[in-house]
Amino acid sequence: MEKKRLASFSGTLGFVLASAASAVGIGNIWRFPYLAAKDGGGLFLFVYIALVITFGFSLLITDIAIGRKTRSNPIHAFASLRKKFKFVGILTFMVPSIIITYYTVLGGWITKYLAVYVSGQGATASNGDYFSNFISSPVSSIVFMLIFLAITALIVFLGVEKGIERFSKWVMPGLIVIILGIALYSLTLSYTDANGETRTGLQGLAVYVIPNFEGLTFSRFMEVLLDAMSQLFFSLSVSMGIMITYGAYVKDEVNLSKSVTHIEIFDTGVAFLSGLLILPSVYVFLGAEGMQSQGAGLMFVSLPKVFDAMGGAGAIVGALFFIMVEIAALTSSVSVLETVVASVMEMTGKSRKFISFLVAAVAAAGAVFVCLGYSVFYFEVIVPGASKPGQLLDVLDYISNSLMMPFISLMTCILVGWVIKPKSMTDEIEKSGHKFHRKKLYVVMIKFIAPVLMLLLLCQSSGLISILTK
Ligand code: PHE
Repeated sequence: MEKKRLASFSGTLGFVLASAASAVGIGNIWRFPYLAAKDGGGLFLFVYIALVITFGFSLLITDIAIGRKTRSNPIHAFASLRKKFKFVGILTFMVPSIIITYYTVLGGWITKYLAVYVSGQGATASNGDYFSNFISSPVSSIVFMLIFLAITALIVFLGVEKGIERFSKWVMPGLIVIILGIALYSLTLSYTDANGETRTGLQGLAVYVIPNFEGLTFSRFMEVLLDAMSQLFFSLSVSMGIMITYGAYVKDEVNLSKSVTHIEIFDTGVAFLSGLLILPSVYVFLGAEGMQSQGAGLMFVSLPKVFDAMGGAGAIVGALFFIMVEIAALTSSVSVLETVVASVMEMTGKSRKFISFLVAAVAAAGAVFVCLGYSVFYFEVIVPGASKPGQLLDVLDYISNSLMMPFISLMTCILVGWVIKPKSMTDEIEKSGHKFHRKKLYVVMIKFIAPVLMLLLLCQSSGLISILTK
């Protein structure tokens, strides 16, 4: 059977922006700053950056090179590199299929807050129970999820160049401008609380960037390392099939090594700026305790309180903030949906339009269950590593991010490092005629260091380490 011609990005810029748009997501905003504050400020930043240019670089370039070399969806890509590794492809296909069902629910929450802030009602969102009331109201959370999913599906429906690439080119510069603007503003803040204590944005900045080595032991350092690694891993969208899919759309003449460096600068830059935006303002209005919140609690409970405390400016800052988060979340969910759609298209041979519609409908059905996990199907479970009970969304997040992704990554390192050998990838990377400067580093990383780190991460996130050390 003749293979259908694949879609492609128009050039390097489109590819880099679309991949950066996938990488820049909610994780950059609601987890990176928290980890930095928890893990010794500048110490965490240093460890994270060291990992970005070694470990992250190797994993990301591998996914993209696998995509470009095989020019196919993740399932087929792994099978065509080695038949026995088809199971890794199947797992890789399952990851975005799971993620799409809960990422759209998070997207729905963001869309709701965007609507509330843009319509000038931000003050109501700062009330203590507003968030829990919203997520436990089935109709409203489903409606906003559907809106978010419909926008995602529309972009995927329009195709790689006309949808994904064009959308990323338009919105990503906007995201940078907004985040820079609010970050600068947050550095100028200062506030005197009821006890007469004055806190400034610059003090919050100091907690963020100055390395804090207090109480640094070997095990504490390992904690910092593992936190940085798991964050980086999630942030770069590797091991989800996304970068394999996007890699398949990259032209042969594109310099992969340089593009990956640019994607990483973008992703890390946005993560760093999110810290500049969030930590000083949270510190000023909520004190050091406020810096301990992360995830949904940070975005939907703590930050609305911060915006409220800013007075008049808070309404504008809040609205801009949720516009920015909406962009970050949308472009990531587009990349997840695209991965599933591209795989199903290739497997069935049906048109993009039909498959986009079909996959979105199935994803919507799954996401409805996730929404109802806070009301009709409410249950509480503590997944390994969590400090408080979670619901269906947390369980899905745990299975995909903490178990499947590190396992896939470990298998990918074994496949590339030991079975088909790194040369198969370095040849692909050099196919464009550009020299691959970090080739030696890449080979050492993919053969030795990355698999060991991945195994460690897998043991940690599956709860094995804490069981053993108890
Ligand atoms: N990399 C994104 C982030 O940091 C996460 C993500 C992207 C999740 C794509 C799923 C799919 O938030």
